[in-house]
Amino acid sequence: MATAMEQEMHEEVGKRRTFAIISHPDAGKTTLTEKLLLFGGAIREAGTVKARKASRHATSDWMEIEKQRGISVTSSVMQFDYEGHRINILDTPGHQDFSEDTYRTLTAADSAVMLIDAAKGVEAQTKKLFQVCRKRGIPIFTFINKLDREAQNPFELLEELERLLGIRSYPMNWPIGSGKQFCGVYDREKSQLELFQPEETGSVEVREVSGYEDPLVKEIAGDYLYERLCEDLQLLDVAGDAFDYEKVRSGELTPVFFGSAINNFGVQTFLENFLQLAPKPEPRNSTEGLVEPESGKFSGYVFKIQANMNPAHRDRIAFLRIVSGKFERGMAVKHVRVGKEIKLAQPQQFLAQDRDIVDTAYAGDIIGLFDPGIFRIGDSLCQSGAIVFDELPTFSPELFSKVTVKSSLKHKQYQKGLDQLTEEGTVQIFRTVGFDDIILGVVGQLQFEVFEYRMKNEYGVDIMLQRMPFQFARWVVDDKIDPTKFRINSQLVRDRNDHFVALFENEYAMRTAMDKMPSAKFLETAP
Ligand code: G4P
Repeated sequence: MATAMEQEMHEEVGKRRTFAIISHPDAGKTTLTEKLLLFGGAIREAGTVKARKASRHATSDWMEIEKQRGISVTSSVMQFDYEGHRINILDTPGHQDFSEDTYRTLTAADSAVMLIDAAKGVEAQTKKLFQVCRKRGIPIFTFINKLDREAQNPFELLEELERLLGIRSYPMNWPIGSGKQFCGVYDREKSQLELFQPEETGSVEVREVSGYEDPLVKEIAGDYLYERLCEDLQLLDVAGDAFDYEKVRSGELTPVFFGSAINNFGVQTFLENFLQLAPKPEPRNSTEGLVEPESGKFSGYVFKIQANMNPAHRDRIAFLRIVSGKFERGMAVKHVRVGKEIKLAQPQQFLAQDRDIVDTAYAGDIIGLFDPGIFRIGDSLCQSGAIVFDELPTFSPELFSKVTVKSSLKHKQYQKGLDQLTEEGTVQIFRTVGFDDIILGVVGQLQFEVFEYRMKNEYGVDIMLQRMPFQFARWVVDDKIDPTKFRINSQLVRDRNDHFVALFENEYAMRTAMDKMPSAKFLETAP
């Protein structure tokens, strides 16, 4: 018989869903998040998240730079309950200037919701974030938003998912018209119509029908839209993918929902299906084998470190994803890399607005730990043993700048800042072969600005950044590497661990180098 503790773990883990919303800026992530939180009663009035987006400094006064730019540099976490589930939404910055943090946050999610603007289709940032999810093989659910505006043909949208992202899709519902003519959606599972009533946001009228060919559908949609709907659905039934739960779980097939977040249309249906289909926290690989979430022993890893969330205290917060067991405030755990025991005294949870102190949390939850400088990205904490989780992925930088110190008197502080900030994962650094010039590599422009700002404010060092024309970094693995092969539109550098990395200005230069060195491997990330 299960003990009370086993029972508790089983229930708590079973009800958790931890996911991230991936989208391109302006697709409606803030709006969707807000509606989801409203369902959970986590916020009372619509507009809270929106207000937070508009005036970030009021709520996440974490970094001065956020205030200056009016955007969120940080990714935070929101938690709410809905129909017996506990839901953790990992927020990723919506601005173009995303960073490696955004990518790393995705490693803490068990599934992803891909939000797409029905008029724009798959956009650049969605593509990048999708690829990270794809690599992990997590389930991806698609919400196609803004059907109340003129939209692309739904088949074209699905075709884009396949062509640009390489994922097959299964539409759970199908839109009837779009824009001014938008009538609602037909639910393929339940054989029902959900009618769109723009003026009555929140209330969705549902009509049971015998199938899409039901005369009631014709009556409501009118001849033209009815015929289109019948044609579309017949085609889907014949030529579309079948629903396959295993393929959803492995991220090969995405369930697709159509709706309009701002009108709260389709959001509840989406949420309810999502909760049924999305995975609960799953086991993770470690040096000690698979770590089961329901195990009684607490373990977790740091996936992100945020400096100066509260400027008054100059504190850092380490975001920890709990992988197994139960967290209790004040508990002592082993900091595996350091080999020491530490007490988790003041952990925080991040609900839309406030930072609340948490007393208990379970596998799947994210907690924030005060960090006096003892954590690094990827560190694991555990109650027993010496679990180390699979290393967090690193990402191939796409933007590069040469960095120099304005005053040579500050060299010591500069070195310290450089070491600490690269350890935190703020930027990646490279040294040129021969000259030892320092080149920073990032995935988002904002990382340069954060680096420059923090160098000045935390280490008192003024730096100069000079953009380099490189676009690609490839780790070169070969028995013998000849630096002279990297002269035209490319440069050979070394990373922190002295691995050789070639930087290229364009694809042509990269291909030429590959052709010249057929025995070498060119890897996107460090070996
Ligand atoms: P983001 O976080 O992904 O950047 O997007 P956000 O939710 O801020 O939405 C971007 C814009 O799209 C907002 O308009 C928002 O109101 C609008 N939007 C979101 N969902 C829908 C929808 O279902 N239909 C329509 N028609 N619009 C939608 P905005 O003009 O930028 O802001 P605001 O003036 O509404 O505050």
